[in-house]
Amino acid sequence: MLHVTKHLFCSAFFLVLKLHYWVFFLTTLLIFQAEIDVAVQLLLKLKTDYKHLTGQDYKAGCPPPENVVNQDNGAATDGIDEEDNVDPWNVSTSNAKGVDYDKLIVRFGSSKIETELVDRIEKVTGQKPHRFLRRGIFFSHRDMHQVLDAYEKNKSFYLYTGRGPSSEAMHVGHLIPFIFTKWLQDVFDIPLVIQLTDDEKYLWKDLAIEECHRFAVENAKDIIACGFDVNKTFIFSDFDYMGSSPEFYRNVVKIQKHVTYNQVKGIFGFTDSDCIGKISFPAIQAAPSFSNSFPQIFGGRKDVQCLIPCAIDQDPYFRMTRDVAPRIGYPKPALLHSSFFPALQGAQTKMSASDANSSIFLTDTPKQIKNKINKHAFSGGKDTIEEHRKFGGNPDVDVSFMYLTFFLDDDEQLEKIKQDYSSGALLTGELKKILIETLQPMIAQHQERRKQVTEETVKQFMTPRPLNFKL
Ligand code: TYM
Repeated sequence: MLHVTKHLFCSAFFLVLKLHYWVFFLTTLLIFQAEIDVAVQLLLKLKTDYKHLTGQDYKAGCPPPENVVNQDNGAATDGIDEEDNVDPWNVSTSNAKGVDYDKLIVRFGSSKIETELVDRIEKVTGQKPHRFLRRGIFFSHRDMHQVLDAYEKNKSFYLYTGRGPSSEAMHVGHLIPFIFTKWLQDVFDIPLVIQLTDDEKYLWKDLAIEECHRFAVENAKDIIACGFDVNKTFIFSDFDYMGSSPEFYRNVVKIQKHVTYNQVKGIFGFTDSDCIGKISFPAIQAAPSFSNSFPQIFGGRKDVQCLIPCAIDQDPYFRMTRDVAPRIGYPKPALLHSSFFPALQGAQTKMSASDANSSIFLTDTPKQIKNKINKHAFSGGKDTIEEHRKFGGNPDVDVSFMYLTFFLDDDEQLEKIKQDYSSGALLTGELKKILIETLQPMIAQHQERRKQVTEETVKQFMTPRPLNFKL
């Protein structure tokens, strides 16, 4: 009897043990399954994010090409930079001090222009750095050190910049890259090509082809008035040059063949209802980055390094260009990026030609300049004179002070204005007066130089021809 009980007990014991084992096994399996589900979800999300950022499907074992990882159409993603929106068509932020450029450098994957680079440019050129460099207005770059390395070994480069002629009059903000490009041309003594994308404006705006082409010629006059050297500068309208240069068109098509619809969607945010002209346009803005697009200038050489000065809104075009370049056997263009000249109403948006009250145009009279600044320039001053004297103004959000940082060349005078405004010694009205007295003669002189630009001069600049330089 004792034997049977013992046997039964043993069997029951082993049964319970087995049951425990199975419960443990099944629970582990369920936990494991849940972990697999989480991992699969994470992988799927990573794949979707990868496609969103690069415009390409993820392929195991294939690292993404350089630059493509950082493609971003400026839309806020995953809370990275929700207040800043920067692309070729929109610039906006909720921050009164303007776009957070340090964050933008990280998001776009470019490099900050450190003091070391500014010092190096000074050493290489033997010239005092332009105020846009001294004050961090040009704040970001791609490969500028490589350009200088090569330049020091007597390998020169060329400059490329541009303008989308959407209106007859350009505003003061448009001058920023051209003023700086002129300085670069002078201190490095190098050739320059300037693209007028009249085709882009026809595709994006409700304008006729003839109008866009006419604006291109009118804008060329303002650009020439910045003082470019006719012997070293070629300005071209896409409508004119594309049809006359087989080499340029061949590069456009090469680029088109190496960029997918998914990629441009990822970079520029195009949708299915955008016309195919817009979708293929980025290849046209990319093509001047390659020297063999200009055989009359570079004699068919495809290895001349290009440097592009522009505001950072144009960077998406050149991220795409830099990704494509090695795949079609060309050097990647280097870049120098500027910050935005703000709208009169504040640094939340850039100055824009489509809003007359946000901008000071190169055609404005001294009276218009005075009225616009007095009426619309956002002030960092206090509400009453008493408060202002007591607490001082805030130059970091004051548009008049920001404009002076772009155009007042004297560093000491600018610093004194900043101190006086911050302490309350200088009132908003007085600060605006200094700005008015800086801009009025500057724009009047520009208008005077523009008057000297004849149709013949425009024709000279816009004729495809050899330029005078040593490479
Ligand atoms: P567009 O006409 O919008 O602008 C011309 C140049 O001016 C810069 N810019 C500004 N810079 C500072 N502050 C501002 N508020 C401001 N607004 C505009 C732009 O970054 C640009 O450098 N698609 C281009 C034309 C283009 C181009 C290029 C520009 C063709 N190839 C190569 C630069 C480099 C356009 O519509 O630019």
